[in-house]
Amino acid sequence: MANYLITGGAGFIGGNFCHYMVNTYPEDRFVCLDALTYAGNLETLEPIKDKPNFRFVHANICDREAVFSLFEEEKFDYVVNFAAESHVDRSIENPRIFLETNILGTQTLMDACRKFGIKRYHQVSTDEVYGDLPLDRPDLFFTEETPIRTSSPYSASKASADLLVLAYHRTFSLPITISRCSNNYGPYQFPEKLIPLVIKRAVAEEPIPVYGNGANVRDWLHVYDHCTAIDLILRKGKDGEIYNIGGHNERNNLEVVGRILKELHKPESLITFVRDRAGHDLRYAMDPTKIMKELGWQPKYTFETGIGPTIEWNLTHSDWLSHILSGEYLRFMDANYKR
Ligand code: NAD
Ligand code: TYD
Repeated sequence: MANYLITGGAGFIGGNFCHYMVNTYPEDRFVCLDALTYAGNLETLEPIKDKPNFRFVHANICDREAVFSLFEEEKFDYVVNFAAESHVDRSIENPRIFLETNILGTQTLMDACRKFGIKRYHQVSTDEVYGDLPLDRPDLFFTEETPIRTSSPYSASKASADLLVLAYHRTFSLPITISRCSNNYGPYQFPEKLIPLVIKRAVAEEPIPVYGNGANVRDWLHVYDHCTAIDLILRKGKDGEIYNIGGHNERNNLEVVGRILKELHKPESLITFVRDRAGHDLRYAMDPTKIMKELGWQPKYTFETGIGPTIEWNLTHSDWLSHILSGEYLRFMDANYKR
């Protein structure tokens, strides 16, 4: 039996990972630690909260005392760190909390790993640490060797954390792995990110804000495939290694919005071009050769097969959506789209 700490498990990807792991490995134990920020929601964990192999702990990864006493009590084998401030636009509005959670929180977790000992610390990172690719070079992709070149306070904080994780491996021999995934979509995604935001607004027939000219490209992966990739890295990945995760599903933003509108039978006239995001990355595109060849990972979904069920999930979970939308959500929406 292995004991896992999953941080940020009340958020989008961490929540999906908790569901996946708790159900796939009933003989193992999973402790989810989450600070329940605006992006964290206990309802996401409702389907697994009463399972005998699951425990939820309300705490902040920056809180050294709380983190250390949990490690002492639980004696974790594996730590998977999803906890983060994750929205680029919020990092433009207020960078500070990104540095605190994403960098110092990571350090706190790794200090606890050093003190109490673990089999593996896994850092959930992002393709955004590589900066962006030009729109007119479709032959270029991010590999694990692509230099770090960040654009936003968010990506700079994630890249800083990655460097710190590599430093703890080299200096203190901490057993670590890092995964860098492309944009995710799927169930339980907070509707400040493009896909759930567009679904929500299209259903309500509200204007859909598209930054700039909508030509920016993202490489979309269903969250289920991100979860299976991390599971594989934990079981088969090599200490000290970085793994890129992506499924070659590049779409520009107008294609994504158009596809959702079509699926929902809503008019394209809802599209509203708004002022571009500051420092807006042009194109992300992952080369996942390493994880496919070395670990045998294959995604289950393409964008075409994943987007329909994601729209359907949003349509059938209006309760989840209405419960997570706090006054803070309305404040941010108002501030970000005042343009
Ligand atoms: P999210 O914003 O939906 O969830 C983040 C979770 O972390 C929330 O439950 C929140 O309450 C929790 N949290 C925030 N600060 C905390 C703190 N100080 N202590 C404890 N918990 C805290 O984010 P997400 O989209 O699920 O992303 C999860 C991870 O995956 C992040 O590290 C992100 O950088 C990375 N990632 C995201 C994407 C994507 O497309 N969303 C792609 C690649 C990588
Ligand atoms: P987002 O979901 O915020 O992910 P990221 O910026 O981390 O890639 O945005 C995805 C793309 O959609 C990005 O190019 C910005 C764009 N976008 C809009 O055009 N309008 C919006 O309202 C949002 C939230 C994003």
